[in-house]
Amino acid sequence: MKLFYTRDKWAAFRSDTSGSWGFVPTMGALHQGHLDLVAQARLENTFVAVSIFVNPKQFNQTADLLAYPKTIESDLILLQASGVDAVFLPVTGEIYPENDTYEAASPGQAALGLEGVYRPGHFQGVVNVVDRLFELIKPSIAYFGQKDLQQCLVVQEFAALKYPSLKLVTVSTRREASGLAMSSRNVRLSDKGREDAAEIFKALDHLREFPTETESMRLRLLESGIETEYLEPMEVRLNTQKGLMNRAWVFAGYLEGIRLIDNLLFKE
Ligand code: PAF
Repeated sequence: MKLFYTRDKWAAFRSDTSGSWGFVPTMGALHQGHLDLVAQARLENTFVAVSIFVNPKQFNQTADLLAYPKTIESDLILLQASGVDAVFLPVTGEIYPENDTYEAASPGQAALGLEGVYRPGHFQGVVNVVDRLFELIKPSIAYFGQKDLQQCLVVQEFAALKYPSLKLVTVSTRREASGLAMSSRNVRLSDKGREDAAEIFKALDHLREFPTETESMRLRLLESGIETEYLEPMEVRLNTQKGLMNRAWVFAGYLEGIRLIDNLLFKE
């Protein structure tokens, strides 16, 4: 597995390869959910590249950026064991050089509402970095986790316009046995917090069957210490390995001061 710290070294290497490149963009602190993306990319491509870059532009709170877990050594061990060919580990100046004139794409309609409301500027930051990474990595297929459902929709929308030949693959959310969606942020939860957080998926699952019971689900979450920001149904259009999904229940909220999101996608 080769490591690249600069865009120039990566670009020189990339232009010397022939075959398809699968690309998994990450912010590190890898867990099995990320490894599922890598495994899918490994199945479908000649080469697999992973980027690890904690993108400051997508954090709307400095405290959240500073608290973001960093586990680079174990990340690299996991990626090596997963058969990754190349890891791109840029410092901020490689992605956002001084006197930068790059005109990054902007998020479209999919960025309105939900995370777009509660995390102003977040999707602008995501699109900014994903655009630059696509431009540089030049993937044939890029892989995103469905846990960040709105992110999948935002990337799908901007990439269709700017990278029409790029294929996007979204991979199902990996859950712990309790139902808790795996997330890099979970390491900041206490043991009790991790148990309580399992209520989120139970609520989503319940609402799928009983869609009028949002208020009682909010109360049940609150009893487990979870303050809901949003818990609502959503219309989507997302290709998944289980076919085209058109409905979802989506959640965001706080537990032990940590922001958690989750969703349940389905077809109606
Ligand atoms: O999902 C993430 O980890 C990030 O939003 C991404 C896609 C790597 C962009 O920084």
